[in-house]
Amino acid sequence: MENEIVLSGIRPTGNLHLGNYFGAVRSFVKMQEEYNCYFFIADWHSLTTHPKPENIQRSARTILAEYLACGIDPEKATIYIQSDVHETIELYLYLNMNTYIGELGRVTTFKEKARRQPDNVNAGLFTYPTLMAADILQHRAKWVPVGKDQEQNMEMARKCARRFNNIYQTEFFPEPQNYYFSGDALKVPGLDGSGKMGKSDGNCIFLIDDEKVVRKKVMRAVTDSGPQTPNSPKPEVIQNLFTMMGIVSTPDTVKYFDEKWNDCSIRYGDMKKQLAEDMVRVMQPIHERIVEFSSNEERLDRIARVGAEKARESAARTLNEVRRIIGFRPY
Ligand code: TYM
Repeated sequence: MENEIVLSGIRPTGNLHLGNYFGAVRSFVKMQEEYNCYFFIADWHSLTTHPKPENIQRSARTILAEYLACGIDPEKATIYIQSDVHETIELYLYLNMNTYIGELGRVTTFKEKARRQPDNVNAGLFTYPTLMAADILQHRAKWVPVGKDQEQNMEMARKCARRFNNIYQTEFFPEPQNYYFSGDALKVPGLDGSGKMGKSDGNCIFLIDDEKVVRKKVMRAVTDSGPQTPNSPKPEVIQNLFTMMGIVSTPDTVKYFDEKWNDCSIRYGDMKKQLAEDMVRVMQPIHERIVEFSSNEERLDRIARVGAEKARESAARTLNEVRRIIGFRPY
């Protein structure tokens, strides 16, 4: 076991979708074998959209059950719920003191969210990146498995680490690095012609979707009238289908349909049928386990309690040191 620390999390705003799985969770499953891992459920971050109190615990349990179904093992990794570790908030405060409103205002996800929810541009949304930095830095994590959409937040986390180190003339925080499952940043596309698969885009294939639903969603994927000339470049909607195929299918399958595209004989119906088939194959074992893990709430709560204890221990250690560096008395 390497001693390098890994941390990552997901907001509990619904079920996990294929973007979450291929962008992040499959890396979690791989990394837990080699690293000291912390995987959490970012329920504080989800407050930016004001969820109802009665949904808070249920949403966290949903993600927890899905983490387990994907293969995250509480014996190997620490799994916890963000709001169980109040130490994070103190670090968040310190990091906010060193972060400038100009740089927070330039974060594209902030600008996008402010556009989408103009009546609710709250300070939590604005300081989202510093809370994320606190999540990471409180364990002094070196690696953070994430999808491409988190690149800018990760840049902010590195800035927070660097700035703290500079201000206090220390090397206390390592600069956390993005980790990508197959080396490159991944953006799992939506199959509705839009850019990425995402909950707020309403274009998701969820791990909880059964075979019939998956097939139906894939068969409805947006296409066009097909290539008119051999070897023409693929428009975005078609490229999205190929990208998805590159993730779930064998290289031979991708090559087969690529050749069909290039000689203008491609039939999108056949391609989608194959894509759905390969998706179902990857998802089925996970799908079955979600039902199994969801049914045992007591077990889920026990896992979250044990995880919280371990996470708090690690966070408290960092926080004490941070307090000492800043000039406060350690607890
Ligand atoms: P969230 O909940 O939006 O997404 C969770 C993870 O899934 C990845 N992801 C994708 N990857 C590729 N293609 C997609 N279409 C796609 N959709 C989602 C995201 O990149 C992410 O890795 N800010 C985070 C949660 C968070 C966090 C952290 C993550 C809070 N604190 C500390 C890492 C470290 C978020 O909202 O992710």
